[in-house]
Amino acid sequence: MTPFKRVDGVLHAENQSCSALAEQFGTPLFVYSKAALESAWQEFAGALQGREHLVCYAVKANSNLAVLNVLAKLGSGFDIVSAGELRRVLNAGGRPDHIVFSGVGKSEAELREALAVGIRCFNVESQAELERLAVIAAQVNVIAPISLRVNPDVDAQTHPYISTGLKENKFGIGMQDARAVYARAVELDSIKVIGMDCHIGSQLTTIEPYRDALAKLISLVDELATDGIHISDLDVGGGQGIRYENEDPMDIGDWANCVKNAIGNRQLQILVEPGRYIAGPAGIMLTRVEYLKQNEDKHFAVVDAAMNDLIRPALYSAWQAIEAVEPSTEPAKHYDVVGPICESADFLGKDRELAIQQGDLLAVLTAGAYGFVMSSNYNTRARAAEVMVSGDAAHLVRKREDLDDLFAGESVLP
Ligand code: LLP
Repeated sequence: MTPFKRVDGVLHAENQSCSALAEQFGTPLFVYSKAALESAWQEFAGALQGREHLVCYAVKANSNLAVLNVLAKLGSGFDIVSAGELRRVLNAGGRPDHIVFSGVGKSEAELREALAVGIRCFNVESQAELERLAVIAAQVNVIAPISLRVNPDVDAQTHPYISTGLKENKFGIGMQDARAVYARAVELDSIKVIGMDCHIGSQLTTIEPYRDALAKLISLVDELATDGIHISDLDVGGGQGIRYENEDPMDIGDWANCVKNAIGNRQLQILVEPGRYIAGPAGIMLTRVEYLKQNEDKHFAVVDAAMNDLIRPALYSAWQAIEAVEPSTEPAKHYDVVGPICESADFLGKDRELAIQQGDLLAVLTAGAYGFVMSSNYNTRARAAEVMVSGDAAHLVRKREDLDDLFAGESVLP
């Protein structure tokens, strides 16, 4: 699936010229391809065919209602981490009984709201959360379905900020404690133990960490069976990596085979929570060059998007490809592509070869995941608009923020 390709040298999103999209909707602009979202989701569904499974898209990666709606129509489940994400999913047509709720800090109000709508499973991350959930469920007279998120202590070999399966990370319940917490959970009348969950990190490119984690999980599943605790769901988390630069990410078919092999003939439904793999390659960000400038021997392209629009380069030193949307006869130079924000970390890319002049349009590729969702209003900048293309059509799926709205909720002392 190549949703973004060149036609007569001009970058297109499906059948839409990116120049025309920028003209119509302004910049900075996030552009998503519906077909790319669908085809990435289908890769998981296809690879897990033949086994009971549910693909639970990790909403945090891109929570625009249009994105969620496209996936809901495919029958997707959703992995949420807040009441806000819960409301988005329901608003976008997602089924409550296809929702799993992850996160270390679920508040009382969030647990209540999720119990009220009848989600499929709470991925419980501590004994304290288990006790809180049990009390609330008993109060409202329902039984809460749970998985325990276990922390298998494996090295996901990814950026430390997005690695979650090591014992020093805050996530999940340690392997040594998990059996006892399961034993406690089955004692609680308002709790129904249905599964086991883990998520070891994000942007994983190799299968080994999954294999290591699964081996530990499956041996715990077997131990629990000897304790008389039988689970039906195995949620293996998300984390499947994508190509930003020259990574060689795992094949989803191979990943699925690894999961199936680990499970063997145990009766377990497979849940998976991919975010980046589905949304990342399905989006780009368009930004216009405001100025070219030169300091000493460094060239800068100052663009109208900034770290408030796309924070991954500043936060993780993440590398994302940057290309000119139109072909040009300008001489190519090496530019630092920077935004207008007053921070030296405000860059989208460093030392990028580009043939551009003032006013040209650039595309930051692979920006569909952890792009707009991580944006902020820093420097009182309005957040960007989002557009979804489908074939020849382009839909504005989130309008650009209005500057006056940014401080509409504020007031001065009387
Ligand atoms: N499930 C759980 C419980 C998670 O915490 C995450 C991501 C996912 C699923 C989805 O992971 P994915 O398939 O997208 O790798 N902002 C960072 C990524 C943070 C990921 C947090 N958790 C970035 O821009 O690279």
